[in-house]
Amino acid sequence: MAEDMRNDLLIRAARGERVERTPVWMMRQAGRYLPEYRAVRAETDFLTLCKTPDLAVEVSLQPYRILDTDAVIMFSDILIPVEAMGQEVRLTEQKGPELPDPIRTREQVDRLIVPDPIEKTGFVMEIIKRLRRELDGRVPLIGFAGAPWTLAAYMIEGGGSKNYAQVKRMMYAAPATLHALLDKIADTIILYLNAQIEAGAEVIQLFDSWAGELAPADYEEFALPYERKILESIDRDAAPSILFINGCGIFLEKMRASGADVLSIDWRIDLKEARERVGEGVTLQGNLDPCVLLSTPEIITAKARELIEAGGGRRHILNLGHGILPMTPVENARAFIQAAKGAGV
Ligand code: CP3
Repeated sequence: MAEDMRNDLLIRAARGERVERTPVWMMRQAGRYLPEYRAVRAETDFLTLCKTPDLAVEVSLQPYRILDTDAVIMFSDILIPVEAMGQEVRLTEQKGPELPDPIRTREQVDRLIVPDPIEKTGFVMEIIKRLRRELDGRVPLIGFAGAPWTLAAYMIEGGGSKNYAQVKRMMYAAPATLHALLDKIADTIILYLNAQIEAGAEVIQLFDSWAGELAPADYEEFALPYERKILESIDRDAAPSILFINGCGIFLEKMRASGADVLSIDWRIDLKEARERVGEGVTLQGNLDPCVLLSTPEIITAKARELIEAGGGRRHILNLGHGILPMTPVENARAFIQAAKGAGV
């Protein structure tokens, strides 16, 4: 079939062109719900996996081979450039990311570097080059990075957080210090994403996962300008962009000003309502609650079809509203992907 030779549905949907059907992939599609991923992880710690191209290429391709997704996302983590900036990052099995020396002062911000992406993170570009070779044009390759607000939150909190008290304390008490950090991260991410595009990434997703924690006016001052600066500075003709914010319903209209080709939305907002609020000129990605994938293939198929209906078959990329959960049964993930392909139960 022609579609087996070159499936560029995701790129065309991102650009607002006509598509024969709604494309589908899942955030965090390479991960612990797959026994094949766990087998690789049993032998290798997470950061070593990110830095070993042979293994990273293998786990990036697993969801494509096993589930037949319409895109591959390179295997890495948003904290890789943070380590390259000079802050220590650990990823522990139980607690998730840990940054033992959190940024709290202007001096610490000034000591961070804007790394050369090839010199410090050349393994990422190598993973992208090898994935393009392996895929040979069959499905598009997605590159990604964290956005400044979300990365600053990890760098200042020293890990994940419930209330973001430390980064918000800096935001209100020492905004100039936070802006200096956000600026440095933005400069880093611009170089990093351009290097990914140069290496062969065909779509770019910017994860501002925790920007939904901000009051709308703070989003406009501390997150949006940096998203916009990054998206303005990357080659959009070479790679359309997707912006993801978890909990974006409160300021969805404002997200449009980022200039992203695609807005990736979570499940707390109705897809049709989101479309009404943003208008026709942008693609929407999402937005199934990842917990739906804990139900049954029948329920998942029905819910996915409802979303495809609501998306109207254009300017929509089917995805979850956030990353797939580690306890998701593989056959359920498969039902979600297959629902977009017209198959199902
Ligand atoms: O989507 C993919 O399949 C590509 C891989 C990918 C990972 N992290 C692998 C990963 C991507 C795109 C990310 C992005 C990422 N990393 C985000 C943004 C997306 C989001 O969920 O909002 C964030 C916030 C992080 C930071 C991070 N990395 C956390 C919070 C954790 C721990 C939580 C968890 O799921 O374990 C990680 C570790 C991580 N990143 C894992 C994977 C597969 C699990 C590590 C393991 O194998 O033990």
